[in-house]
Amino acid sequence: MTDTTITRNFLDTPSFWREYPERDIEFVRWYPCDVRPLTADAMYAQQEKFPKTTSFYVHIPFCNQVCTSCPYNKFNTRNTLVRRYIEALKAEIDMYSRLPYLKDVVFTSGYFGGGTPTTLRAEELDDLLGFMKQRLNFSDDCSVTIESTPVDVDQHKLDVLLKHGVNRMSLGVQTFHDPLLRYLGRARAHTGESATRTIELIDRSGMENLCIDYMIGIPGQTHELWAQDIRTLMDLPVTSFSVYNYAVLPGSEVFFALQSGATPPCPSTHEADEMYQYLHTTLMDAGYLALTYNDFIEPMRPEWEAKGVKTYPVLTDGSKPYRGLETDTFYLTDHLSQVWGRCGDMVAMGSGAYGYLNNRMYLTEPDINAYIETCNAGRLPIVMGAYTDEHEQRCRSLVLGLKLLRMKRSVYRERHGVDPYEYFKDKCDDLAAKGLIEITDEAIQVTYPKGWYYIDNICKTFYSDANYRLPQPTSASTEILNWQIDRADGRKGLPVVQL
Ligand SMILES: C[S@@+](CC[C@H](N)C(=O)[O-])C[C@H]1O[C@@H](n2cnc3c(N)ncnc32)[C@H](O)[C@@H]1O
Ligand code: SF4
Repeated sequence: MTDTTITRNFLDTPSFWREYPERDIEFVRWYPCDVRPLTADAMYAQQEKFPKTTSFYVHIPFCNQVCTSCPYNKFNTRNTLVRRYIEALKAEIDMYSRLPYLKDVVFTSGYFGGGTPTTLRAEELDDLLGFMKQRLNFSDDCSVTIESTPVDVDQHKLDVLLKHGVNRMSLGVQTFHDPLLRYLGRARAHTGESATRTIELIDRSGMENLCIDYMIGIPGQTHELWAQDIRTLMDLPVTSFSVYNYAVLPGSEVFFALQSGATPPCPSTHEADEMYQYLHTTLMDAGYLALTYNDFIEPMRPEWEAKGVKTYPVLTDGSKPYRGLETDTFYLTDHLSQVWGRCGDMVAMGSGAYGYLNNRMYLTEPDINAYIETCNAGRLPIVMGAYTDEHEQRCRSLVLGLKLLRMKRSVYRERHGVDPYEYFKDKCDDLAAKGLIEITDEAIQVTYPKGWYYIDNICKTFYSDANYRLPQPTSASTEILNWQIDRADGRKGLPVVQL
């Protein structure tokens, strides 16, 4: 049943949608986008399958120092709120551990994101992680990632994380240049030197994988500073690397500082593109392996190869020795494979998180107090979502799967019973004619460098008609929807869409 009393809310504006040859700059992370009200009861009214494996995402919306122009769901750390939040989170974890849909499930990967999850004190991390391990089943080689800034982690916290099987850290370094950190409003928190010390501390602790985040497009960033940051990255004991496109949020402190000339301008689009190109060629010339167009892992190690980790050629004509990692052959990249590559289940917990269960994409309550109240009342805090029927699942597998730059046709056929090229022949032929993808007997592969540059245009080509031109869902879409519901006859008067 489709609810016609709620009009489509979501800023259906072409600024979220650029057609080739214009480059789309909206980062595709989720699909579908056409999300509507959803309750936990509606989510599990019909259970179509019982998954054997899954991943989790836990959102910790606290930071010790909130950065200006941060797009994430986060608050300044306040001890009483943190304590109430952790209790609510434990109630939510307990509900999932008893959910019939997940009765036999094993977690093969997980991710603590934020915000900054390591703003929790060591005792709080111990309590939360210990509780999760007690309630949920984890595989022996489960890869668990936690995000941190360079200042919110110390030896005591590392000991707790390692004790509970966290084997991957993602550290928000952004840049090693102090003036640039100042323009970002992060310099009070950390400097290039303190980031280096923290990286060395994490390396000595025995953490298996350390990923650092950089940003391209920071005020004052030049090609030379960027090249220095890449050299620093390659000299440090860092296993993998992610790059984000810095977005200046209208109305933020950085926005006004840029407007008034108090900070130097951000690099132009052309300069930022050159920095991306430099990053790609420098890392791949040095043997780094591509995971996505903005995530890389260090060159293949003999012990990984011995365990069956596989790579593929980024250029099918072999003109350069660049390689990409087949993420589903490596346990440390299981989270990426599960969420994008396999489009598998993911249990999202915490306030303002996204998950996928029982063929439904869902969002959790982004209002922290409402989240706490809902969990404490014994209800799962699911507020919005979208059902994916077989056609949407076929679209989803390419929209998200191609984020990993390659979809094996045999894998797709096994999952959906059809060949992706046959099913989307016109769209594939069109993308191939534009030089954005290549279709081989084995795979649909994003071309390098052209397809990489247009990656989000390519992913959006596989949006279904119902999602055409819709922006990515964010916690802001939940707020807009709540506002619409309140503006109509009140929440209770409106029927919830049956998905
Ligand atoms: C949740 S944060 C990671 C952990 C920690 N909160 C931190 O900032 O160090 C994820 C990443 O988002 C990126 N990010 C932050 N603000 C951004 C912005 N305005 N535009 C694009 N990316 C941003 C940063 O690279 C940051 O490391
Ligand atoms: S520390 Fe990270 S999550 Fe927190 S405000 Fe800064 S960028 Fe956002």
